[in-house]
Amino acid sequence: MVRAIPTVVIAKLLGIPEADHRDFIEWSERMVAIAEGAMDPSPHGQELVRYGMAATVELNEYLRTNYQARREALDDDLISRLVSSSVSDRMSERDIVAAFTQLVFAGNETTPKLMGTALFALAQFPDQRELLRNDRSLIPQGLEEIHRWMSPAQVNWRIVQPGRSGSEIAGVEVPEGSTLLCLQGIANRDPSRWDDPDRLDIQRKQQPHLGFGFGMHSCLGLNLARLETQVWLSRLLDEIPDWRVVDVDWGPSWVARGPVRIDITG
Ligand code: HEM
Repeated sequence: MVRAIPTVVIAKLLGIPEADHRDFIEWSERMVAIAEGAMDPSPHGQELVRYGMAATVELNEYLRTNYQARREALDDDLISRLVSSSVSDRMSERDIVAAFTQLVFAGNETTPKLMGTALFALAQFPDQRELLRNDRSLIPQGLEEIHRWMSPAQVNWRIVQPGRSGSEIAGVEVPEGSTLLCLQGIANRDPSRWDDPDRLDIQRKQQPHLGFGFGMHSCLGLNLARLETQVWLSRLLDEIPDWRVVDVDWGPSWVARGPVRIDITG
């Protein structure tokens, strides 16, 4: 269920007709296989990547058709807004379609994984869950703390631009063109920033974490992700106030951390 929520939300924002939501969810679920396969160098991993890429091609084609239809007749959705904005004059059709596909991909693995982690974390720390159940105004900061504690986005890459020689990080020279692996999940548990960082404490002093990235490429969908997870968690606390985790599968990925399957019981 948690996997479908962000996909349906983005489908609605893009103005995808309800009759196509099932296909849309299926493409989106298949695309997740790319991230899983990329972690697995075996033939099975390569097969997963091919399977996910095929779904990406189908989704691209579907979004291209929708984009072309909006150029004929505008509607009240994100695709129409881009069509009618001046930005679209400066972008090729390929780039525009790729941007929509990126929106689907960027939210469809991360947001469900944050929800799955919240299910896991709050069952592990029932005192924290009780605080949230009794005071819903704590939900936004509770989710930020869960996100700090175990972010779906554990790792990020940055390439030192050509011509930027002489860069130095913590006394280590970084040659131009180097690829830097930024372990933001570890930074989110830095003991010099958070007391007892391995403890989930939704009442701890709030300060920014790196779960949504940093700098000019910070997450474009962070407000949407926050809203979705907050509404979902409040509803969950109403419907299944004392869930227990029966089984959890964390999957192979160390880049996008979070359950790929989590079974709970009320
Ligand atoms: C809990 C959920 C989410 C997490 C943890 C997350 C995390 C991140 C992170 C860490 C980045 C930075 C990547 C980098 O620096 O290379 C990023 C970028 C991005 N995210 Fe999210 N994201 C989430 C949800 C979403 C949603 C729902 C959307 C859109 C519907 C979205 C759209 C994007 C886009 C378009 C970028 C690229 C921004 C750019 O390059 O300028 N994300 N996200």
